Amino acid sequence: MCGIVGYIGERQAQPILLNCLGRLEYRGYDSCGIAVLSSGIEVYKDAIRVEALAKVAPQLGGTVGVGHTRWATHGEPSQLNAHPHCDCSGNIAVVHNGVVTNSQSLKKQLTSEGHNFVSETDTEAIPHLIEKYYDGNLEEAVEAALRDVDGSYAIIVLAAGEPRLVAARKDSPLIIGIGDRENFIASDVPAILDYTNRVIYLEDGDIGVITKDNIKVRRNGTEVDRKEHEILWSIEDAQKGGYEHFMLKEIHEQPRVIRDTLGEWVSIGEPAVDLAVMMRTGLEALLLLACGTSYHAALIGKYIVEELVGIPVRVELASEFNYSGQTLVKTGAIVITQSGETADTLKAVKRLKEVGCQVLAITNVVGSTASRIADQTVYTRAGPEICVAATKSFIAQLMVLYWLVMSYSKAEARRLASLLTELRHLPSKVQQVLDNEDTILECANYLSRYENMLFIGRGINFPVALEGALKLKEISYIHAEGYAAGELKHGPFALLGGDTPVVAILAHDNTYEAMLTNIKEVKARKSPLVALAEEGDEAIGELADFVITVPRVDAIFSPVVNSVALQLLAYYIAKQRDCPIDFPRNLAKSVTVE
Ligand code: AGP
Repeated sequence: MCGIVGYIGERQAQPILLNCLGRLEYRGYDSCGIAVLSSGIEVYKDAIRVEALAKVAPQLGGTVGVGHTRWATHGEPSQLNAHPHCDCSGNIAVVHNGVVTNSQSLKKQLTSEGHNFVSETDTEAIPHLIEKYYDGNLEEAVEAALRDVDGSYAIIVLAAGEPRLVAARKDSPLIIGIGDRENFIASDVPAILDYTNRVIYLEDGDIGVITKDNIKVRRNGTEVDRKEHEILWSIEDAQKGGYEHFMLKEIHEQPRVIRDTLGEWVSIGEPAVDLAVMMRTGLEALLLLACGTSYHAALIGKYIVEELVGIPVRVELASEFNYSGQTLVKTGAIVITQSGETADTLKAVKRLKEVGCQVLAITNVVGSTASRIADQTVYTRAGPEICVAATKSFIAQLMVLYWLVMSYSKAEARRLASLLTELRHLPSKVQQVLDNEDTILECANYLSRYENMLFIGRGINFPVALEGALKLKEISYIHAEGYAAGELKHGPFALLGGDTPVVAILAHDNTYEAMLTNIKEVKARKSPLVALAEEGDEAIGELADFVITVPRVDAIFSPVVNSVALQLLAYYIAKQRDCPIDFPRNLAKSVTVE
């Protein structure tokens, strides 16, 4: 998820582009750049924040230009990989948000036709394709180029000698801001609200041709009408997409995040990383390492591997692992870290590398330290996660684990085929959980007055109980603990009573009956009982004081729908208690100290 902007008018483009980009940094901030058309196209870009670029960039004269703030997906944050990207002649500059899934084959083809590439990005294929088809009509060249592109894109094209900007979108947002003798193009509304609140939303497949006095939208070669909308949001609201908090916005982004994270693999049916390479080199076991929410993803990973691969898996808290006296043996290790900068996790990677372990990193940040020091890296495609409490990155980590393991699993083909079908439907199942928000809000109102709470689950939903408790702790300051349900009778039962509600997480697997028993034991000790149960579960209604229903999925995927419901529950309880949800006290998004 990057931010792109374009300006065409009578004012100097540079300051406007930089201001618009600054408003889009919540979409990505690891590098940025601008290109302005004067006699030719001048480009200035680097792996720095927009504010820094504004300080160091030379004055690029011109009233037409494009800009980009990046969230790296292909190629580390660097000056070369930053956008805009140009063709061989430097006469065509492109800014892009999205992923060109066939960039490798396009670049190979274009190289054989004499084009020369300088970056590691997928995007660079686009300006070279436009150059290939350009015969004096820019929008036709863009149309022809996009016919060769697979994947998602929002692009803005600037070309020397062309008094217009051409913009196009497919599966990435793009809007046009209408001004007076000037027009704006941007990934999202916040970018342009300083200048206008009149916008046109481009639709998938649209190509916009924008001059300072005119906006034309074409589709399959013919002109189409697009309605003008008046925006009444403040910039801050707009950055949150109209949601009150980044956390709620990020929770609602999860169907897209699942599609984006699985996108390339599911569409080309290729394993993300050949676990076999790690497995077949005589490894005795698989070690999963992480901290906080990522550790809970690792715990769920253990259940997935043990069910679908059947090899023993050890899961370690990185902060504990670093001081354990255990003798490290050569093993395959997977470290999970959203930020890629968590000190405890990085220290563990270094320890593992010292004894020759193969380390695979699952991270959300391209170019992060973890991605540099690990042997291999698989990226989640959650986009920037602004809220301190991790939500979408957690679900994206689970998607990577499912795909890694399913790609390697020797489980029965029919089972794998049905799991693959379910995986493809997970975005819509998660959407069903989000659509049931009102029920969860009601439950939150019921629970928000309590100062203590327990979460219980069994099997693959035990880590979900831990994660549910962590989310609630982080943002509502309620003292919440997650427990394996079978553990309650070994001590925590002492906490039960009218002032300690219990949230029980059920799934239709071999733990279901045992969970029902635990729920009866909790009820017998007078604790208010909230159950997270699948639709159509008759039995639980009689037992629980409140039931949150989630869609039916294969038990191995139940952590996904259950976790999203618990994220919403924590959010609405914290909101009810008026907590600073996005930036809770005493916490940092990335813990870079031990
Ligand atoms: C989760 O909501 C917290 N932000 C925290 O527990 C986090 O998961 C932990 O610090 C690990 O961060 P990482 O995934 O960036 O390594």
